[in-house]
Amino acid sequence: MNIPLTKEILNFTESAKNEITISRFDHSLRVAELAYELSIIHNYEYPLDAYLAGILHDFTKQKTNNYHIDVFTKHQFEYQELPVNAFHAFSAYFVIQDRFNFTKRDVLNAIRSHTLGKENMGLLEKILYVSDFLGSEFALRSDEFTGWVENTKKNLYYGMYLKSSKTIQDLTEKQLPIHTNTISVYNFSVNKLVANHSIS
Ligand SMILES: [Fe+2]
Ligand SMILES: [Fe+2]
Repeated sequence: MNIPLTKEILNFTESAKNEITISRFDHSLRVAELAYELSIIHNYEYPLDAYLAGILHDFTKQKTNNYHIDVFTKHQFEYQELPVNAFHAFSAYFVIQDRFNFTKRDVLNAIRSHTLGKENMGLLEKILYVSDFLGSEFALRSDEFTGWVENTKKNLYYGMYLKSSKTIQDLTEKQLPIHTNTISVYNFSVNKLVANHSIS
């Protein structure tokens, strides 16, 4: 896909590359491209911002828990209810603003909700949430990958259902608690799919 990358995006891509491992960076590139493509298909007005959200979403993924907690403490952010695997989404939201004076609200909000999702997500939040799943190693290795991507191109709610249901399944198997945001995304997307007669 030919994406007209701006100087700003290329600079952020270099910065992201310095923060994460190559395999995590490759994942971020896949997520960025998917987010760009899904933005065009699902009429998000700023597909290049969606690409940028993909590049930046895992910016702090490989930091320690203490690093995340320091960021939360500095910003007086209550993190106690968050699952540890979602820390990076919330710390990236703060770090990207602090480090780059970055102010694009849609991009920042999408980064913050990319792991857990939330109730009433905006369009870019939904797009990044599903792109993160479709751009995962897990999705890429699945025999169902092509169908998952095609169905999400047809209906974004399908991708939201897919990621939330796989997350719930995985957590249930590991006997781990399920965050209420994930359950909200699951209920919301299933209701939309049923209403659209996409599942019965
Ligand atoms: Fe992430
Ligand atoms: Fe990710």
